[in-house]
Amino acid sequence: MGKIILTGDRPTGRLHIGHYVGSLRRRVELQNSGEYEKIFIMIADAQALTDNADNPDKIRENIIEVALDYMSAGLDPEKSVLFIQSQISELTELTFYYMNLVTVQRLQRNPTVKQEIHFRGYSDNAEEADNKAGIPVGFFCYPISQASDITAFKANIVPVGEDQIPMIEQAREIVRKFNSTYGETLVEPQALLPNNSACMRLPGTDGKAKMSKSLGNCIYLSDSAEEVWEKVRGMYTDPLHLQVSDPGHVEGNTVFTYLDAFCKDEHFEKYGNAFHGRKVNFDFHNLEEVKEQYRKGGLGDMMIKTFLNAVLNDVLEPIRQRRKELEQNIPYVYEVLKKGSETARAAAAETLADVKRAMRINYFEDKELIATQADKYRG
Ligand code: TRP
Repeated sequence: MGKIILTGDRPTGRLHIGHYVGSLRRRVELQNSGEYEKIFIMIADAQALTDNADNPDKIRENIIEVALDYMSAGLDPEKSVLFIQSQISELTELTFYYMNLVTVQRLQRNPTVKQEIHFRGYSDNAEEADNKAGIPVGFFCYPISQASDITAFKANIVPVGEDQIPMIEQAREIVRKFNSTYGETLVEPQALLPNNSACMRLPGTDGKAKMSKSLGNCIYLSDSAEEVWEKVRGMYTDPLHLQVSDPGHVEGNTVFTYLDAFCKDEHFEKYGNAFHGRKVNFDFHNLEEVKEQYRKGGLGDMMIKTFLNAVLNDVLEPIRQRRKELEQNIPYVYEVLKKGSETARAAAAETLADVKRAMRINYFEDKELIATQADKYRG
């Protein structure tokens, strides 16, 4: 059997360039490689609701934002199935059965869940629960629901960022436990991670740990060229690099981290010496040469920011253009999601039938069951 991909994002905001280098760009490459039998890309609204139960409108409004980001970044509904998680009720059903195969203690050990509990200020013990919000049960169980997302489509490859590794591990455990308890039924998935560390964990424009909406340090795929330049201009670089002639640090310098994630040698041919409509003295052939010069001193932050801006826009401009076109045809985008959800639902229904058969809860399908019991009770 061919390889199957499933991955997705929570619709809690527009997608940013951290999402792009962390997973989206790779998905588009995988999609266009033609090496995969099926590709499922999911907008994880049900998962987003696990910690946004009181704000369904936020999720509702961001479905279209994520769909527009997906399609403008190059996900093609002719090649990939784009769908909305909540429309596939089979996923919730699978989750309910998988819950029996996972212990509370195992979920408590999940490092991503732990981190999120802390980040969201949920109380994790009974004593505190009066003054702090407790952990919603649905939120606590989302790793199990994520295992349903993956296994429902028999996905063997899950392209994700590093923070999702514990989720994939949890899914693998559920698959093994299910198969050993009920017989070989589910497919064990593998995470596919970004291939360089800059892409794995793109920092925010302020140099802080990770690009994240709540920290206000994002460059969005849908930002205008002016917004991108404003953000790049204000970016964190090397606080010790005060004069152009000072030696600079490349490690931990956000501009260079972004260049590591985005810059290709072809950008030097394209923009060397003439970017931003100005003639400048920027005569390099690859990123290593730029880094070497920066380390030695004599290369100003404005110069590298201007170059980064050109590189970013080279990537973002076609995405912006496609977004603009798609924005003129929102009903079409919804139609894509609706069709995708129908296709996804049919695939998930097959797996659910396999699961129910394996779990011996397929009573009406099982002619033999009825016949044997008829014999037994007739006496
Ligand atoms: N947890 C992912 C995120 O926060 C979204 C997601 C839900 C997902 N189900 C998935 C990713 C299944 C990969 C596979 O972005």
